[in-house]
Amino acid sequence: MGFDMKICSIGAGYVGGPTMVIIAEQCPEIQVTVTDVNQQRIDAWNSKNLPVYEPGLDEIVQAIRGRNLFFSTDIDKAIKESDIIFLSVNTPTKTYGEGAGKASDLKFIESAVRRIAQVAKTDKIIVEKSTIPVRTAEKIRKILASNTHGCKFEILSNPEFMAEGTAIQDLKHPDRILIGGSQTESGKEAIKTLSEIYEHWVPKNKIITQCLWSSELSKLAANAFLAQRISSINALSALCEKTGADVDEIAISIGADSRIGSKFLKSSIGFGGSCFKKDLLNLVYLCEYFELPEVAHYWNQVVTMNEYQKHRFSYLVVEKLFHSLAGKKIAVFGFAFKKNTNDTRETPAITICQDLMKEQAQLSICDPKVTPETIKRDLDGFSNYEIQTDPYVAAQGAHAIVILTEWEMFKNLDYKRLYEGMQKPAFVFDGRNIVNLQQLRTLGFEAYGVGKPIAG
Ligand code: NAD
Ligand code: UGA
Repeated sequence: MGFDMKICSIGAGYVGGPTMVIIAEQCPEIQVTVTDVNQQRIDAWNSKNLPVYEPGLDEIVQAIRGRNLFFSTDIDKAIKESDIIFLSVNTPTKTYGEGAGKASDLKFIESAVRRIAQVAKTDKIIVEKSTIPVRTAEKIRKILASNTHGCKFEILSNPEFMAEGTAIQDLKHPDRILIGGSQTESGKEAIKTLSEIYEHWVPKNKIITQCLWSSELSKLAANAFLAQRISSINALSALCEKTGADVDEIAISIGADSRIGSKFLKSSIGFGGSCFKKDLLNLVYLCEYFELPEVAHYWNQVVTMNEYQKHRFSYLVVEKLFHSLAGKKIAVFGFAFKKNTNDTRETPAITICQDLMKEQAQLSICDPKVTPETIKRDLDGFSNYEIQTDPYVAAQGAHAIVILTEWEMFKNLDYKRLYEGMQKPAFVFDGRNIVNLQQLRTLGFEAYGVGKPIAG
């Protein structure tokens, strides 16, 4: 079958996979190939057990894989035949050399772009889908100039705003699509080409076009603003616990102000996920690089507050369990960084589990989607934990239940049954404010939340 256009993604991760799946679903006349250097990942995309868990993703992949959606490690072939190439590789925080601990490591972007420069024989649009520092397009352009086949490349910025756990919904009904490009004739033409793909399912008035640098920086700005809201409400949660105010009530009253808005005001054990921290640190690094120390300090404080919140919660557990966790069994409900994902990157659960294990607690960890292999990788170096699939077994004989992810299943457990199987006094520490503390107290639990009035 002939296709009107061929596109590919370099990178088949949490972004490259789902974004390309939705383009393929919505644009049957476009051939979409998702490529990766990781053979195991590509094999998983071609199997029944996809490497990414997202509600709704599985059904779409099974329906259209092989129609116009393909997963492959043959990156060169995909580059050669594609009109548009999406760069969806990882851009983690640099762990070495200049900027270590803050700057984005662009080595994966660079190697993908070098590959394009080396093998491309026709003109192409290169799309920055990964989150990158502002002015990365300049570097990409320089590398692409080494192409010896006289190809013309147009670079676009098209950051992705989907969140994990709601990726399919977010991709199908985005608040906006952002496309940045050069304001030249060929730049405008490239913007139009990419825009027309999205126009298959996104209303035109939701497609924002900007200059490259605004688009690149907008992505970092959006994540910084979102993370800042969480750190702001978490900062208030600490004050709530001291004063008897309830942080969820604060969220309702301030969120009712339409200028503030009600979303993203859920106090928690801190934000996790692969991006907020890395993108904030990247922003901090950029501000330092451009000699703006006050601005750098301002955004760094969002990260500092997040670290504080995680350790503050661990300390609450230690304090309430009589400053002694040695040998005590603690059931940990949830390990993913949020519900509806199997992703544990930067999950606050890692920090909190480590804190508790350093106090020599014996953990029994239960998460409906995170695999035991992932938990073992994340808790490398520790041995005082076990992994359970059944929360009732995890809590049997435990001194405390610690809720770290807001999975629906943890809201609806039979807490009376859990209580009966536990050591007394039995404690619940709800790091996500998903259970009714009053009801638990009626059952006999000593129950604590985040930013909640302490009983008695
Ligand atoms: P990921 O680690 O899940 O996937 C990246 C993939 O790229 C990996 O499978 C890796 O093997 C592959 N890769 C690296 N170098 C390669 C190369 N040279 N050639 C081919 N494949 C290569 O990362 P992710 O979560 O999908 O994030 C990708 C980018 O998207 C990051 O910049 C991230 O900040 C951004 N982003 C992520 C999310 C999210 O929800 N995860 C949302 C928006 C934006
Ligand atoms: C976030 C952004 O929401 C996306 O727009 C962005 O595309 C993405 O980062 C990215 O660039 O990777 P994600 O990290 O997948 O998405 O998930 P979020 O829903 O933002 O949650 C992040 C963390 O904040 C989670 O640990 C979550 O539990 C926590 N959170 C979120 C709160 O503690 N309170 C809230 O009110 C909201």
